[in-house]
Amino acid sequence: MAKVAVIGGAAVMATASQIERHSMHSSIMWFKVEEIYNEFEHKCGIIKLKEVADAMTMEMHAGLACEDGSKLKMLNTHLNNLPTSDEEGVYYALDLGGTNFRVLRVQLAGKSGIKSQEFVEASIPPHLMVGTSQALFDYIAAELAKFVNNESDKFHLPKGRRRELGFTFSFPVMQTSIASGTLIRWTKGFSIDDAVGQDVVAELTQAMKRQGVDMHVSALVNDTVGTLAGGRYDNNDVAIAVILGTGTNAAYVERAESIPKCHGPPPKSGEMVINMEWGNFMSKHLPLTSYDSSLDAESLNPGEQIYEKMISGMYLGEILRRVLCRMADEAALFGDTVPSKLKTPFVLSTPEMSAMHHDTSHDLQVVRDKLKDILEISNTSLKTRKLIVNLCNIIATRGARLAAAGILGILKKMKRDTAKKGETPKTVIAMDGGLYEHYTEYRTCMENTLHELVGDELSEHIKLVHSNDGSGIGAALLAASHSRYLEADGS
Ligand code: BGC
Repeated sequence: MAKVAVIGGAAVMATASQIERHSMHSSIMWFKVEEIYNEFEHKCGIIKLKEVADAMTMEMHAGLACEDGSKLKMLNTHLNNLPTSDEEGVYYALDLGGTNFRVLRVQLAGKSGIKSQEFVEASIPPHLMVGTSQALFDYIAAELAKFVNNESDKFHLPKGRRRELGFTFSFPVMQTSIASGTLIRWTKGFSIDDAVGQDVVAELTQAMKRQGVDMHVSALVNDTVGTLAGGRYDNNDVAIAVILGTGTNAAYVERAESIPKCHGPPPKSGEMVINMEWGNFMSKHLPLTSYDSSLDAESLNPGEQIYEKMISGMYLGEILRRVLCRMADEAALFGDTVPSKLKTPFVLSTPEMSAMHHDTSHDLQVVRDKLKDILEISNTSLKTRKLIVNLCNIIATRGARLAAAGILGILKKMKRDTAKKGETPKTVIAMDGGLYEHYTEYRTCMENTLHELVGDELSEHIKLVHSNDGSGIGAALLAASHSRYLEADGS
């Protein structure tokens, strides 16, 4: 009886387009597919890159002028000296920022560089991403305890010294010092209410105590800041760091006098590292589509991180799923009904989308396999598979071009966007994140767009380097340069 009622209810709820399709078509309505495709391609294609870059520069000014002056937080990191390569000793880092976290041990040998590094990686169980602060920090501290308990005797510290840790915490944090700061809000699928507004170093410290780990947190850094520090350690011209991964963000070196919202005496170096939190950038020039709006509305953080939702790894596959869902629903792309798997949010990850985008087989076999394995859709035609590759291209291209425009915005703010006769400074941008590292089409498009935007001459002076694992090593370096034992050592 209940079954009949459900079926009856479902039939009543069927949309007009579904009824029409059942009665008139059993095959794909290609004219409708094309209509949806063309509209999407058109909307994504009209990006006024220079306007986006200018808007980014403007928001940077506004965010530096006063707290809450802009959606761009432009956070003061309390870091005014980047690593010098004089750092020595054994330091630890904890890198928490996405679905995985890492624990590292780095042995620094001054000018001779990094003598050794070891790390373990673990994934964060999904329930901990939306649970309580204590559960998350206890889990991390327990992994840290395992790592330390398994280390060999050669890592024993001089008597009376505690181990020191750089904590890479890749979420927006209002720092109160180099080693403390309160969480402003979560991003990237994390949502743990009782942690918001709390000092994340205090949370970690308490969890370490509960798990019996004797470590002192010497530096709290965003992953962009860690990447900047790690990048600078290798190359003195590194002045900007950009993460294109699950989430996205940028940090750069700002002149202290250009930060009106920072009061008090300027640092000796005259510089300050700023964590932009550019994922929250918003501008009327962003080419938003209805898919972006519904993705945002149904997300854990509606109205926030709009730029991130258009360009970063957590969302690209989901945008693709939404377009395919509409094509399935309104144009019967996969038959008379929308395949149930396709209706599951986030079922299509960006790495899967990337694999389809890079499919070079003549009959698009990778696309066929992914559709079958992930969405349980079989018997697709080559035409349908080609359509999917083209959609991947539209989504990745839009994201990559927007990311390039964001970088141009930073270069403009730093006044490094034009070649100067005879004295153009070299700007090296440290890049990291899975999207940048693994999604070749995205990366190439981003790099080409940046080149196109700055022109041939300036391109000679701007270099993007992949700073592999920079954020973890950077945090260890910053733990070293902010060690509480430095004065005792006479450094
Ligand atoms: C966070 C940033 C972080 C970026 C990259 C964003 O969602 O807000 O703090 O740097 O992701 O991991």
